[in-house]
Amino acid sequence: MANEIRLDNRVAIVTGAGAGLGRSHALALAARGAKVVVNDLGGKVDGTGASTSAADAVVDEIKAAGGIAVANYDSVASPEGAHAIVRTAVDTFGTIDIVVNNAGIIRYKKFMEHTPEDFAATVAVHLNGSFYVSQAAFPIMKEKRFGRLVFTSSSGGLRGGADGVAYGAAKAGVMGLAFVMANTGAPYNVFSNVILPNAYTRMTEAMVLPRNIEKLSPEFISPLVVYLSSEQCQLNHEMFACGGGTVARTIIALAPGWRAESKAELSPEAIHEHLAEIMDMTNYANPQSPDEETRLVVGRRRK
Ligand code: NAI
Repeated sequence: MANEIRLDNRVAIVTGAGAGLGRSHALALAARGAKVVVNDLGGKVDGTGASTSAADAVVDEIKAAGGIAVANYDSVASPEGAHAIVRTAVDTFGTIDIVVNNAGIIRYKKFMEHTPEDFAATVAVHLNGSFYVSQAAFPIMKEKRFGRLVFTSSSGGLRGGADGVAYGAAKAGVMGLAFVMANTGAPYNVFSNVILPNAYTRMTEAMVLPRNIEKLSPEFISPLVVYLSSEQCQLNHEMFACGGGTVARTIIALAPGWRAESKAELSPEAIHEHLAEIMDMTNYANPQSPDEETRLVVGRRRK
């Protein structure tokens, strides 16, 4: 393949790579030549427990296929764990180029059944973990003027899934984190993008009909992760919904809205009256920074 996308000499961390999507991403990155840190705490889907066998099995698979990988068993959910993951990459392979923030847990419970501990534990893995690992890797990427970060969000966060308030809140937080990192990293060729996958894994097995299992293979997600990890990818601050073969950009759109000309004009009644204009998404914008949004919303200062 003349224009094959290769990741030779790139070092990648994939968090939560011992199973499901992370395993698939790690195999795909290694198949393109990346040296991969296969991080996994090896716990249960609800975040309890730990074991080394999940990460070890994926490292063995990568090596058996002729790839290069090392296992790491630290939790992403503490700054110390995150630094140890990055240290594994640097000590073993000399640097870090790619971080795929993928580790995740879920506790399926009704809104009122979520305990503070459920909430804290879930946010700790998805949101805090993505922050800790990305922050530990960022100085190395900034220094070398290359970095690719892939963040794993979810329609559960973007759209608000039922029975997963902690999960949804954490995944929406991951989007905000990714956007901040996208703007922080842009001057240094350190790009951050978000995936919103749909895949059959142990996390979703109870919800997937048997006839859809193959269609929802994690292997339908990993080519996008490889692309977003590559030098060829010049995208930054983007989000992609994916699954079953589809790769689709998704955005947080801003309508042109209705604009009152004076304080006196802007009343609750006027809002009710202008609702059609306020809700109309024709000619929407997709602001890439708070400044851009403020300019669009507030516009030029009136006399
Ligand atoms: P999974 O349960 O198969 O994989 C998650 C992996 O993360 C596990 O191997 C687990 O041991 C590891 N992990 C959990 N806590 C960790 C920690 N503190 N430190 C390091 N590793 C840890 O589930 P799946 O589906 O592969 O999930 C991967 C990511 O994709 C998660 O962030 C999930 O929320 C996200 N996602 C999955 C969707 C799906 O359809 N399967 C949909 C949307 C998002």
